[in-house]
Amino acid sequence: MTFLIAHLSDPHIGPLPKIPFVKLMNKRLTGALNWHSARATIHNMDVLDEIMADLVAQGPDHIALTGDLVNVGYAPEFPQAFAKTARLGDAGKVSIVPGNHDAYTGKSLPEMHKVFHSFMQNDGASGAVTFPYLRKRGGLALIGVNSGVPTLPFMATGKVGKEQRARLASLLEETRRDGLYRVVMIHHPPLRAAARFGRGLKDAEEFTQLLADHGAELVLHGHNHKHSLHILPSSTGPVPIIGVASASAVPGTPHHQAEYHLIRIDPETRQLELGRRGFRHGGGGIETIETFQFPPRTL
Ligand SMILES: [Fe+2]
Ligand SMILES: [Fe+2]
Repeated sequence: MTFLIAHLSDPHIGPLPKIPFVKLMNKRLTGALNWHSARATIHNMDVLDEIMADLVAQGPDHIALTGDLVNVGYAPEFPQAFAKTARLGDAGKVSIVPGNHDAYTGKSLPEMHKVFHSFMQNDGASGAVTFPYLRKRGGLALIGVNSGVPTLPFMATGKVGKEQRARLASLLEETRRDGLYRVVMIHHPPLRAAARFGRGLKDAEEFTQLLADHGAELVLHGHNHKHSLHILPSSTGPVPIIGVASASAVPGTPHHQAEYHLIRIDPETRQLELGRRGFRHGGGGIETIETFQFPPRTL
């Protein structure tokens, strides 16, 4: 039996609600200016609607949404994002991890938790959210890691931290022993060289080492707003690390066109097939841009 995951990320749901001036006296001021100057034209909610409609029509077994749901982490943005993403499905069907824009200020993540806590929970848990969380679905272990932390203005760095890394190491071991296909979801690309200065994961080196030591079958991330694929050697075999473009970016340039990924997994054979779906250059509807098999099939 195969399992179909749809992976989308970085919807940056707008428009930005009106923010009282006093609440702009922090990092949000630069974020709000950034939204009005650039983000509002790059991230289009009609594009996001089209992407989500196409994704839902494929009938995925589960949906991974890897962060940056909002723009400046202001409380009213989260219910707005919830209303927009409701069509994806309920919390049993959708797993979310926060991005740096969801953790924009110290008050942002608690506001996200109020609205999205059931999408970021261990199976059967309720109440406070602790990362990493673990959900088991059809031979898969879906593990959600939080890399979103408040940062200084103009920075978009992330950090997993020692405690989460220790819990993740145990979860990876436990789920490996159970013979599950381990899927790690994280907003920031976990490899050191995979993000520009000021945008990367601060503990990328430690995180990469953790993956190399304990293995995983797949890592899904967002943040860079473009498709990427890296293969990391690990103690349990090569780990594909797959980044997806923003789900709301207007078509038009290679770096700004919305996509999502469909990933069909056979947990028994460990075979994975990735399909990139999005808008091709020059307009038209959503179609499959590229497919990829891992490990590569030999004839
Ligand atoms: Fe983003
Ligand atoms: Fe991000």
